[in-house]
Amino acid sequence: METIFISPAEMETAAKLIQMGETVVFPTETVYGLGADAFNPDAVLKIFKAKNRPADNPLIAHISSLDMIDSLTSDFNPMAQKLAEVFMPGPITLILNKKPGVPDAVTAGLSTVGVRFPKNEIARKFISLANTPIAAPSANISGTVSATTYADVKRELSGRVGGMIEGEDCEFGIESTVVDVTKAAPVILRPGSITLEMLQSVFPDASLHPSLLSDAAVEKPASPGMKYLHYTPKAEVILVYGDRKKIAAYFEEHLQSEECILLFREEFQSFSKNKLSLGSASDLNDMARRIFKRLKQVDLLEFERVYIPAVEETGVGLAVMNRLKKSSGGKAMYL
Ligand code: TXA
Ligand code: MG
Repeated sequence: METIFISPAEMETAAKLIQMGETVVFPTETVYGLGADAFNPDAVLKIFKAKNRPADNPLIAHISSLDMIDSLTSDFNPMAQKLAEVFMPGPITLILNKKPGVPDAVTAGLSTVGVRFPKNEIARKFISLANTPIAAPSANISGTVSATTYADVKRELSGRVGGMIEGEDCEFGIESTVVDVTKAAPVILRPGSITLEMLQSVFPDASLHPSLLSDAAVEKPASPGMKYLHYTPKAEVILVYGDRKKIAAYFEEHLQSEECILLFREEFQSFSKNKLSLGSASDLNDMARRIFKRLKQVDLLEFERVYIPAVEETGVGLAVMNRLKKSSGGKAMYL
């Protein structure tokens, strides 16, 4: 398939592709998305094909204004409205009971639909020109690391999609916080940059789905997507727990030539070899913004193994560690 590369100034072309039932890659503030008309099941199936995505993993419907939500749900309840008022547009997805007209291809046959109102200007203009909710997963081959730069998405999906809109590096760098708002209080199904602490400042009863509290294999995952292999680069990923200075000192001595390490700015300067920066340790949003880009670089540089310092699982650290535990398949070291 020939992919049409689209600059932000030519977004009518992208909208036309959507209306013709094609797939289009677009930037968002979290990760790049691979979109199609949510109300065109044939177009939605093309997404699954382009990504090799399992059919039982539902997609998120993206909207460009809250008015658009009425086409997706009759249950935009007061809790959902409050969260939308505080956090939308932004890196959050609300799980709501769906309207019967929302195709099963989008929701994988579930009675609920995920709705996201992105903040990214290009994403919003694209959806608004397409004039329909855009069903979109992250723009990557299923099981691999989500793309957060145009270069990454271009390398991986050229020739597999109808169009691709060029954008900047993604501002947040990890996928949206997925929140079930069909229950008495909000429940986080997938942690993200809108943190549990932020949700609790609005709804003190907001909680994490139990499957996020244990590292054990989960029999009943919070959302269908959570049970699949995820976020895996080719390189082996090893999480390293312990004092950051101690970690740097240990690997200064033991790092092999085919291995690399991700380090925070504080330890980065003095480290001598095979290193990629995570930004400042004092703001984990820095790490979130860079982490997927770094995992892809590790593969491009053909390292066989990457060591990553574990961080505290609070705030956005919870979301970063949620992804990294999957990337590492549970492999960890304690220094
Ligand atoms: O930031 C994001 O959310 C990005 C950008 C493109 O918007 N999208 C994204 O989509 O990460 P995807 O498909 O890679 O992840 C969507 C997650 C999956 O874990 C899926 O199972 C879950 O959301 N999900 C979607 N609809 C759901 C539903 N109705 N009930 C429960 N989980 C749902
Ligand atoms: Mg994904």
